[in-house]
Amino acid sequence: MKVVAFLGSPRAGGNTELLLNEAIRAVEEEGHDVTLFLPSQMNLSPCINCGGCDETGECVLEDDMNDVYRAIREGERFILASPIFFFGLSAQIKALIDRCQAFWCEKYLLKKPVPEGPNGRKGLLLMVGGMKKEKGFECGNATATAFFRTINVQEHDKLYYKGVDAKGDVKKHPTALKEAYAAGKGLVKLSGQRSKLADVRKT
Ligand SMILES: Cc1cc2nc3c(=O)[nH]c(=O)nc-3n(C[C@H](O)[C@H](O)[C@H](O)COP(=O)(O)O)c2cc1C
Repeated sequence: MKVVAFLGSPRAGGNTELLLNEAIRAVEEEGHDVTLFLPSQMNLSPCINCGGCDETGECVLEDDMNDVYRAIREGERFILASPIFFFGLSAQIKALIDRCQAFWCEKYLLKKPVPEGPNGRKGLLLMVGGMKKEKGFECGNATATAFFRTINVQEHDKLYYKGVDAKGDVKKHPTALKEAYAAGKGLVKLSGQRSKLADVRKT
């Protein structure tokens, strides 16, 4: 299966990356290829709401999003990983998500959702935040859900960890890395084999 992963954190070796690496390790062990996008290192313009995609479902801006569009069309499993910044996803990943307005037009205006493919399309959301309050994840969760549904991923598991702040703190969490690894395994299991990991919330 083609697996596409997005790392929303700009902090190299940070908590989000450590978590995502565990999920990717599990996916690769199962023999699947992962295409990883790092928005913080890409040439990505934010959406300018020009309406250019309204009638075609194609963005008129020319930058690294072209690779992302292709990967999203061809992908079957998707991992979105982001830290919480000011109660939302990072600006880097949000810019990429906003550019998926082109898929929104394709799905909802042109009534042509991205085809499901033989194995369906499933997602995994990973988030970390320094605050100790669950509320901090609500906006990020809503944005990620809108993103997944827009690219025609109708179901996704989610793992999020609060109170994880300093670089590398996630390694001290008793279960986070193991759960991310298990979630990676679950992501690429075909229907019927899939582990029940939906909506796991950790302290
Ligand atoms: C600009 C900025 C805003 C932040 N806002 C929040 C926030 O609203 N809620 C929260 O729980 N953590 C917040 N944090 C803390 C990060 O989510 C936390 O440090 C996280 O572990 C960073 O993940 P990373 O190491 O993958 O970059 C913020 C950090 C930064 C740099």
